[in-house]
Amino acid sequence: MAAWTREPVTVTVTGAGGQIGYALLFRIASGQLLGPDTPVRLQLLEIPQGLRSAEGTALELIDGAFPLLTSIDVTDSASDAFDGTNVALLVGARPRTAGMERADLLEANAAIFGPQGRAINEGAASDVRVLVVGNPANTNALIASSHAADVPRERFTAMTRLDHNRAVAQLALKLEVPVAAVHGVIIWGNHSATQYPDVTHATVDGRSATDLVDEEWLEGVFVPKVARRGAEIIEVRGASSAASAANAAIDHVYDWVNGTGDGWTSAGVSSSGENAEAAAGYGVPEGLVCSLPVRSVDGEWRVVPGFDEGPIAQAHIEASVAELVEEREAVRALGLLPG
Ligand code: NAD
Ligand code: LMR
Repeated sequence: MAAWTREPVTVTVTGAGGQIGYALLFRIASGQLLGPDTPVRLQLLEIPQGLRSAEGTALELIDGAFPLLTSIDVTDSASDAFDGTNVALLVGARPRTAGMERADLLEANAAIFGPQGRAINEGAASDVRVLVVGNPANTNALIASSHAADVPRERFTAMTRLDHNRAVAQLALKLEVPVAAVHGVIIWGNHSATQYPDVTHATVDGRSATDLVDEEWLEGVFVPKVARRGAEIIEVRGASSAASAANAAIDHVYDWVNGTGDGWTSAGVSSSGENAEAAAGYGVPEGLVCSLPVRSVDGEWRVVPGFDEGPIAQAHIEASVAELVEEREAVRALGLLPG
């Protein structure tokens, strides 16, 4: 007799045989993605070459005897993997290696996301929520959503929570305070070296962060440190970040489903629909997937409007938004956007 008291939620993870997949799946199975009362049905997607690795991970998931894990399916069929899915984590994509920018992955990875968008459109549950992790995450999310005409664009998001967490951690390290003392950081723009980690509205133990650190450190150390942290990890570790990326994916979805309360966080969200006006207020044109300050209310990400940005921040944000526009044009030219 089943011991579960709630209906299982179907979670699809692509690239399940890869590094992030390995760091992510056990945490999902243990209840950290959706909460301790929600059973999970896992549907794992891989390409044929990755299937054995994903199947091995599935064996280990069984051996974890997770009380919340109701089933695991491993497949190389996108339509099977996204069938009935409620939460789709699009991780499967090539990572960059030393010396590359994330945009260099556009040609290699972008073609993955149109077919997956279509499979989500055709088979996912009506409440599906999508987080794109595979790089370049913002533009890949845009491609996937463009191929899913029946799913509201707001349901397709890109992960900039890792950048957000990095910014919180760097500020806490600098001020020698626990990370829990830091609130109100914002990541603006693209998950790339042009992103703008912004502490203008952040507080540390209730005090304004800008009273505690000087402009020279912010511009000269903090901003490049956070924006280039992915490259630093690749250089030092010899491989792209994995456990911290998985951790950020958990944070993103947990907050999306459970709400953010009074504060805000950062996520790459569509600047269309309900969020178009607030995004336009920050100079983000309609239809991009851009990192912005967001609150999760009733299961929807809503851009927090009305932050007053000074000229330095504004220049950073404009540059990152311009890069997103360029990436959109590049994938349009590659024929990866419908219409
Ligand atoms: P990895 O190479 O270890 O794993 C990727 C997996 O995806 C492989 O097993 C591969 O077989 C699979 N795959 C490739 N194409 C696929 C497809 N069409 N369908 C399903 N699976 C497919 O890489 P990783 O370290 O797990 O990183 C995955 C992606 O996440 C990379 O693009 C990386 O740059 C990105 N990433 C993003 C962030 C972020 O903050 N947004 C952080 C870290 C990594
Ligand atoms: C990261 O930020 O660590 C990932 O996007 C991997 C990368 O290529 O930087």
